[in-house]
Amino acid sequence: MTSTAAVTMSPHFWSERYRSVRAALPALAAGLSPEDLTAQSMPDCSPGKWHLAHASWFFEAMILSGQPDYVPVDPQFQILFNSYYDALGERVARHERGLMTRPSLEAVLAYRHEIDRRMTDWLERTVMTDQQAYLVELGLNHEQQHQELFLMDMLNLMSRSPLDPAAYDEEPRHSVSEAAKGGTVWFDGGLAMIGHDGEGFAFDNESPAHRQWLEPFGLAADLVSQGDWLSFIADGGYRRPELWLADGWARVQAEDWEAPLYWRQDGDGWSVMALAGRRPVTPEAAVRHISFYEADAFARWSGKRLPTEAEWEQAMRHRSEVFSGAFGEVWQWTASGYDAYPGFTPTPGTAAEYNGKFMANQKVLRGGSFATPEGHERISYRNFFYPHQRWAFAGLRLAEDQAPSPKAPDQDGAATRFQRDLIAGLSKTPKTASPKWFYDAHGSELFEQITRLPEYYPTRQEAALLRRVAPQWAERFGPNATLVEFGSGASEKTRVVLDAAPDLHAYVPIDISAAALEGAVERISAAYPGLTVAPLVGDFLHMPPLPDVVGTGRRIGFFPGSTIGNLEPDEAVAFLRAARALLGPGSLFILGVDLVKEPAVLIAAYDDAEGVTAAFNRNLLARANRELGADFDVEAFAHKAVWNTEAQRMEMHLQATRPMQARIGDTVIAFERGETIHTENSRKFTEAAVRDLAQAAGWTELAFEAGPAPSVALALLGAD
Ligand SMILES: C[S@@+](CC[C@H](N)C(=O)[O-])C[C@H]1O[C@@H](n2cnc3c(N)ncnc32)[C@H](O)[C@@H]1O
Repeated sequence: MTSTAAVTMSPHFWSERYRSVRAALPALAAGLSPEDLTAQSMPDCSPGKWHLAHASWFFEAMILSGQPDYVPVDPQFQILFNSYYDALGERVARHERGLMTRPSLEAVLAYRHEIDRRMTDWLERTVMTDQQAYLVELGLNHEQQHQELFLMDMLNLMSRSPLDPAAYDEEPRHSVSEAAKGGTVWFDGGLAMIGHDGEGFAFDNESPAHRQWLEPFGLAADLVSQGDWLSFIADGGYRRPELWLADGWARVQAEDWEAPLYWRQDGDGWSVMALAGRRPVTPEAAVRHISFYEADAFARWSGKRLPTEAEWEQAMRHRSEVFSGAFGEVWQWTASGYDAYPGFTPTPGTAAEYNGKFMANQKVLRGGSFATPEGHERISYRNFFYPHQRWAFAGLRLAEDQAPSPKAPDQDGAATRFQRDLIAGLSKTPKTASPKWFYDAHGSELFEQITRLPEYYPTRQEAALLRRVAPQWAERFGPNATLVEFGSGASEKTRVVLDAAPDLHAYVPIDISAAALEGAVERISAAYPGLTVAPLVGDFLHMPPLPDVVGTGRRIGFFPGSTIGNLEPDEAVAFLRAARALLGPGSLFILGVDLVKEPAVLIAAYDDAEGVTAAFNRNLLARANRELGADFDVEAFAHKAVWNTEAQRMEMHLQATRPMQARIGDTVIAFERGETIHTENSRKFTEAAVRDLAQAAGWTELAFEAGPAPSVALALLGAD
């Protein structure tokens, strides 16, 4: 038995806890009609009335009936509300629960009241044995499971009506909606302890704790979003058998799947049915209502895979702070079959049938959803569903096998990511594209030309300021330090830091542009022969692990060029937080930012007289033509640079000068005349904004220096 230390709690504690858990289900049912609570929308679902009754029956069957001479509230209810306990005799077939028009809702609520009266009375006068305390806790956890099942089933019922009725005026429970953290978190392999460690309550299927061998793996910091899923759909995800397991593909065809359950496409785009009614798909929210088969196909399409449950648990046990949405958003499908752990023994007695007998043909989900009651979730919790089931609040988080080799850029993968990202951005309204795709070899060269333009002050101003502060700041680096530069480009400003810190052990430039990195590494290695240079081609928003050459001393992050201003505010916090995790305790971070100033100065810097910035902006489409075989009429897009006062940022857009269409792979994107693609934001900062940003990401501002007009600034940040 998986025990609970709570046996030592007072009878009063138990009766209060019982009351508070039991209050939730009637509250969820309160606004629904007796008809809503009687219907059964499919064999997997149960009527709301049945949930209300069955969760009460559980206490009667598992606890109250253990008393000598116990008289049941109504012997017939023992048959009607037994779910699947063979040892407890006859029951109604699951798919026929919707036929129970009798007892009435009123009678079921009266049954609940009577069970509550008997249970609280029993709890207040009983000094429980370990086994009894476990069964009470099990009953309460069972009740909590039925709260979530109740919401799943009500949503399914509402979804079956052509009227799209809202079960609730407002969502009865809310997601945690943590900001995205970005990237993949890497774990060494080795022996891991998995399973319930004996502290507090757990279901029997979480025990015993045992060792499992893990190969090195990466787990995505964030859940797969609805926006990601739109890209999967747009890329023919539901039409390509090569992405699917055979059983999954058979389901896609038999049930005409073309999107997650509850999604619908009409004139206004995709919408999704939720507990408070139908609403537009939200690209940044986690995808929900997918089967294991869909999660698996999505992972294959992404070039990744689903995590095993042991990988998920190991990651959350040791680095939960670097993940978003681990709990409180969606249950996450794993690749693991729902099997007994080595040494598993079911709970003794009638509750033996609770979990163990379902250990065939199902898949484990980990985490918890927005509908999971607070306090019910646990790192070792094993939820399970059949691989085709879609009505749970289930989504996914991707895993991958090995950290990519630092020196072997996956250029094919990069092209796929570029295509996927571009299609996703151009499928939105308004259309967007990420600025990181500006930087192929030609784009990097154009950026270098921009830095030499008379109107483009930031590079000159920042280099001059860096020359002023670097000698003093370098005194803090200490021995054996490593400089890690994010978005290093031509590594020109880096020289100022390297000159100020001749004892640096290693330099790790990270850039998405392999071409820019190659040239920079050649020049830096020639100019600083004693320095170990270990380049990483990669996306700093998906933080790659540092190479082995890193010194034993302090790590110094370097992020000049106000590239931070290209990130959305949430993304900037997530980036700085991930950088802090990568660089470790005691690290320093030199951050370059452009400051808020006269719009005329800014606009000139982003719309130069020679048209180099315009060519840089259009290079995004030219690159799509070169690398993806797209057919953008590049010259038909005008370069626009605008100051957005409210968001305090310069924006670059590409504006269609006529109606047109462009094809990327199988996807056709239509443009109206005047429609724009928002290609870049360059947020401008104040000292207070930099301090707030640093603080939000867990850094402390150690120094802040601004240069003369047109002003840029450098901040020195420290990690405790
Ligand atoms: C504005 S330039 C700055 C270059 C240089 N740090 C400077 O200050 O002059 C941005 C650089 O970041 C790189 N970059 C942009 N987004 C990136 C991403 N997500 N991951 C890695 N590199 C990125 C680009 O290739 C480019 O070299």
